[in-house]
Amino acid sequence: MKNIVVINGPNLNMLGEREPDKYGSETLAEINAYLTVKAAELGLSLTFLQSNVEGELVTAIQDAAGADGVILNAGAYTHYSIAIRDAIASITVPVVEVHLSNIYKREEFRHVSVIAPVCKGSVAGFGKDSYLLALYSFFV
Ligand code: DQA
Repeated sequence: MKNIVVINGPNLNMLGEREPDKYGSETLAEINAYLTVKAAELGLSLTFLQSNVEGELVTAIQDAAGADGVILNAGAYTHYSIAIRDAIASITVPVVEVHLSNIYKREEFRHVSVIAPVCKGSVAGFGKDSYLLALYSFFV
């Protein structure tokens, strides 16, 4: 069974309370439970990690080197963390960038993703189903 590591960055532990108009009303635990069911249907197993700390995200990406894939919502770090970009570039495992919201429809500073060039692909704007679409990407 393929193992996919799902990594969520800063403030994503606040889902459910945080700007529900942009990010929905479900908590991260609820989204992870939903993804676990969907992944089992697809024959995938998931490992979850959330951190608000940039260095912990770097380590989590490095530690995922033995997994079959990574789904990464780097939150605001998407837009400026060269350390996270370099961590992604340092592993050969495919990393799929995910955002709940459509970052290209929002403020201009969110239109830049410094991690996109080192990711296999990106999914943004489909709420929790951005993660589901990222799961499907491991079959294409
Ligand atoms: C986000 C978009 C980012 O711009 C923002 O900083 C987040 C969440 C998303 O999932 O839509 O924290 O990554």
